[in-house]
Amino acid sequence: MTAQLSKKSEAWSARFSEPVSDLVKRYTASVFFDKRLAHADIQGSLAHAEMLAHQGIISAQDHADIQRGMAQILTEIDAGRFEWLLDLEDVHLNIEKRLTELVGDAGKRLHTGRSRNDQVATDIRLYMRSAIDDILALLRDLRLALVDLAEANADTILPGFTHMQVAQPITFGHHMLAYVEMFNRDAERMADCRRRVNRLPLGAAALAGTTFPIDRERVAKTLGFEDVCHNSLDAVSDRDFAIEFCAAAALVMTHVSRMSEELVIWMSPRVGFIDIADRFCTGSSIMPQKKNPDVPELARGKTGRVNGHLVSLLTLMKGQPLAYNKDNQEDKEPLFDTVDTVVDTLRIFADMATGISVKPDAMRAAALQGYATATDLADYLVKKGLPFRDAHEAVALAVRACVDRQCDLSDLSLDELRGFSPLIEADVFSVLTLEGSVAARNHLGGTAPQQVRAAIERVRKLLQD
Ligand code: ARG
Repeated sequence: MTAQLSKKSEAWSARFSEPVSDLVKRYTASVFFDKRLAHADIQGSLAHAEMLAHQGIISAQDHADIQRGMAQILTEIDAGRFEWLLDLEDVHLNIEKRLTELVGDAGKRLHTGRSRNDQVATDIRLYMRSAIDDILALLRDLRLALVDLAEANADTILPGFTHMQVAQPITFGHHMLAYVEMFNRDAERMADCRRRVNRLPLGAAALAGTTFPIDRERVAKTLGFEDVCHNSLDAVSDRDFAIEFCAAAALVMTHVSRMSEELVIWMSPRVGFIDIADRFCTGSSIMPQKKNPDVPELARGKTGRVNGHLVSLLTLMKGQPLAYNKDNQEDKEPLFDTVDTVVDTLRIFADMATGISVKPDAMRAAALQGYATATDLADYLVKKGLPFRDAHEAVALAVRACVDRQCDLSDLSLDELRGFSPLIEADVFSVLTLEGSVAARNHLGGTAPQQVRAAIERVRKLLQD
């Protein structure tokens, strides 16, 4: 039996009368992508071995041998010297085989009371926990960079849009803080997801638990898990935590994508609200004058793949009977690519935010063009006693006259304005200025520079904790 096992490279093949074909081997193997879980796999194995020794299931000597072997394997992996073999199917069997080569029987005892099913579920959770921590740190960096940009532009006026039509003047600081709010919620979602990721499947073994006197709480503690998974069938089979993570990641990318769209529009020479530092842009191979905002465009495009990964994982899980099925091997590539995409995107955006230069004159000129203070004039009339609907109508007529004459509301004389409502007096002109308009929206959540500064302080405090 033992001889046969060592002749064939597959750990499970003694039961089989013929080897799998090369095609099947390649089709079922995961080592070339799941080797990325190597550190988590070793971390999980060491915690498992420590528990086995503590419970007297393996000897202290076996435990020491496993520790020694794993230390060497880690060194080999980190140095790029570890030989990953397709024949050994996945990261787990590759490491276990090497361990046995290095330390003999102790390596073969490591898998006591464990299955690859609970092993891989543990590895993914360890990997994801650290990925979430990286993403949380990057979300923080991005928000800090946006807050700096908001602070430098707390008073900078630009038109706010609805339906892509000039609506009301706003401050650029306020606009940046809108994205900060989105990323605040993204961070909350990631942190919330982390709590459900951070639970230990090990001990579930293949699906039903194990006959050995294991101590799952001890392993959970060693690995820093907040709890154990309380049902062995559920522990090895569900990947809802990965789906949740991809949903949170898809929202991060959605927010990045919305911002990207604005950056692209703002950088168009037709708009010219901002410039993005050259190091984030590329040229054209044919048109020498071009400077393209490739980074935001790509981020907008990459949102599609992350959304796709979410749908992949949902579809992967749907219809799977209890407990573990090989389908779940397909969870890794979407998950890894989601992590890579979000991490790279957030890193580059935090950096790019420092390379955005604002062009206040262009923003101001645009705000002056679209009757952005029309609502302020209506509010002015309401404050003089006119019902809002009547005020709205009077201002609409004034705007129409301005459109005909191709001028702004503030270009009309007092007499002309009074033609639309006799309630209008000389104090109207301060209401029609852009500065007056933004300063007047001075309440919690409003666009007034004073509120922008207060909001910045709030966010900075939040990011300190
Ligand atoms: N490579 C597998 C995965 O990613 C590990 C678990 C395999 N378990 C099994 N019984 N074939 O899910």
